[in-house]
Amino acid sequence: MSTGRFDGKVAIVTGGSSGIGAATARRLATEGAHVVVADVADDTGTAVAAEIGGTFVHLDVGDPEAWARVVADTQRDHGGVDLAHLNAGIALRAYPVVIEDLSDADYRRINGVNADGVFFGIRAVVPAMKARRGGAIVATSSLAGVGPHPDDPIYAATKHFVVGLVRSLGRPLHDHGITINAVCPGAVDTPLLDATGRRDAIEARGRPLMAGDDIADAVLDLLAGKETAQIYSVMQGRGAERWEFAGIPGMPAMPPAS
Ligand SMILES: NC(=O)c1ccc[n+]([C@@H]2O[C@H](COP(=O)([O-])OP(=O)(O)OC[C@H]3O[C@@H](n4cnc5c(N)ncnc54)[C@H](O)[C@@H]3O)[C@@H](O)[C@H]2O)c1
Repeated sequence: MSTGRFDGKVAIVTGGSSGIGAATARRLATEGAHVVVADVADDTGTAVAAEIGGTFVHLDVGDPEAWARVVADTQRDHGGVDLAHLNAGIALRAYPVVIEDLSDADYRRINGVNADGVFFGIRAVVPAMKARRGGAIVATSSLAGVGPHPDDPIYAATKHFVVGLVRSLGRPLHDHGITINAVCPGAVDTPLLDATGRRDAIEARGRPLMAGDDIADAVLDLLAGKETAQIYSVMQGRGAERWEFAGIPGMPAMPPAS
């Protein structure tokens, strides 16, 4: 029986145990996809997968060998990979960040999840999508991926990495029928904000928080659509809006990705 836009599709959602990823996983399942919930949080991830008739896999997105295993297992057990929401992310414990106080370990940790995790994910799912002659990838960046964040500069840098990667990969993946886009949410009511001081800072600015579902809507539309190499902000009261980047002075405009 047909239920939605993703009937028969197989999706991997990283960070699918909580927040934005759990919302996307639920919506994808409602619209017909089999969802592989991939996360380091085993108990909550197992519960989300059970609720939606999906599969939970333990995956540290910063571990390339684990990625290879998860993609191979998904191909074996579910026939392939069609969709990926590369969404797992963390915030630093400190806030606001004092740049000279940031330890090597914390710097590497946030890069390992927010930046490496997206690269390793793309590198692992692209061959599986090529084997299916198409696919769709959406990565979760942040408004901090398109603008400065003086209180959280390394988080912002990791999210700019995602934007640069997505904008650059549109054309090479287009020839294989694979789209790649990113969402840049404003503040969303998830446990991520409970890392030191973030929720208080947002509340002090009087900014209303969005729900994970607000972001999931945008993710599903991008996974279902034909656009590629696009960056969408998602803000409270405005919904998803495509970003237009200014040209570089003295540089001819790049041809569109598709
Ligand atoms: N909440 C916000 O205000 C907000 C705003 C903009 C962007 N984002 C981004 O949205 C994404 C999802 O965050 P969220 O707000 O839903 O937070 P969340 O904390 O609810 O969910 C993040 C999930 O990622 C998982 N995770 C952490 N490290 C992992 C790893 N190494 N491997 C696999 N999974 C891992 C966590 O276990 C958790 O389930 C993140 O990339 C975050 O940076 C969040």
